[in-house]
Amino acid sequence: MIYLDNAATSWPKPESVYQTMDEFLRTRGGNPGRSGHSLALAASRMIEETRLLVARLINAPDKDRVIFTMNCTDSLNLGLKGLLKPGDRVITGCLEHNSVVRPLRKLEGQGVRVVMLSPTSEDGFISPRDLEKALDRETRMVVMNHASNVNGLIQPIEEYGAIARRHNLIFMVDAAQTAGKYPLDVQTSNIDLLAFSGHKGLFGPPGTGALYIGERVDLDSLREGGTGTFSELEEQPTELPYKFESGTINSVGIAGLGAGVKYIFREGMQTILAHAQSLTDRLLEGLCRISGATVYKAGDSSRQAPTISFNLKGFQPGEVGAILDQAFDIKVRTGLHCAPLAHRTLGTFPSGTIRISPGYLNTLEEIDFCLQAIGKIARAEAI
Ligand SMILES: Cc1ncc(COP(=O)(O)O)c(C=O)c1O
Repeated sequence: MIYLDNAATSWPKPESVYQTMDEFLRTRGGNPGRSGHSLALAASRMIEETRLLVARLINAPDKDRVIFTMNCTDSLNLGLKGLLKPGDRVITGCLEHNSVVRPLRKLEGQGVRVVMLSPTSEDGFISPRDLEKALDRETRMVVMNHASNVNGLIQPIEEYGAIARRHNLIFMVDAAQTAGKYPLDVQTSNIDLLAFSGHKGLFGPPGTGALYIGERVDLDSLREGGTGTFSELEEQPTELPYKFESGTINSVGIAGLGAGVKYIFREGMQTILAHAQSLTDRLLEGLCRISGATVYKAGDSSRQAPTISFNLKGFQPGEVGAILDQAFDIKVRTGLHCAPLAHRTLGTFPSGTIRISPGYLNTLEEIDFCLQAIGKIARAEAI
């Protein structure tokens, strides 16, 4: 089997992730922060160690500003709904995932003004100049993804961040497609809110994610309840990270996430990046040579994340995905990838595209096999 759907969730996980989760649940599965016994204390230590590892990965100045969530969607909902109030204006782009678009549409119904910028730069990203022109006095926030989950285009978040900071705005980044795959630095990129999945590039299990909350942001909580701290209070504590971590936390998932982040540090970001680049280059080169294939990618290859979309003339995306799965045992994702707006922008709405997203554990041989399979489908040899 060849798994090429790492933009949805990474699979398989490094062996240490499976082992750590198994060991944790068997030997340290107490409820962190809830009791004084050794099992609960061991679980708490693991949570705080993982928080520190994640904070180091994004260069957060304080580990307690990293909040564990269920996934990137959860982090985005907390950042957007915890900040924006009726009358606020927020600027975003037309390459966003529904996990940004849908919360914003809901907030729009409550009086938040949403401005969606279309990409005008040659390379397909939202031009920083257009962003700056769109700002006005009511603008409170800018939210952009780091890389599109449809065509893998990496946007210039450093430039957006500098503009947002200059105008005293809150800058939020959706790093679902880049965390663990690209260096991220919340301090030098002027990021106030960084939302990311734990189960994609960080190699954690499904049900893990995180939100970095910078010092300039005062967020409302969306859930209140037991935190294991300040138990004498009937009101939600204001201290981070507890304010946003009510209820029993996904400790076994976070144990796996910690093992995933340790794996990234062991392998090294430069090695991970270089491997992604070689898989992506091979895939792009091969796809562009297949007759009848239209490839959706970044204009400039240095802005290309390992997520590539394409279509084959004469085929619906779903048909190609089904043949790859059934005839070749290759797993890719087809359709709209929860990003209808991005597909409208790329001209691939409503049928969408076939998306191939290799991960660190894929090989060049697997990419070659996948390209051969697509070539056969295009030549109608595999139907
Ligand atoms: C760009 C982008 N943002 C947000 C999400 C949502 O991530 P999660 O599945 O962790 O909620 C995804 C998921 O694919 C994504 O690609």
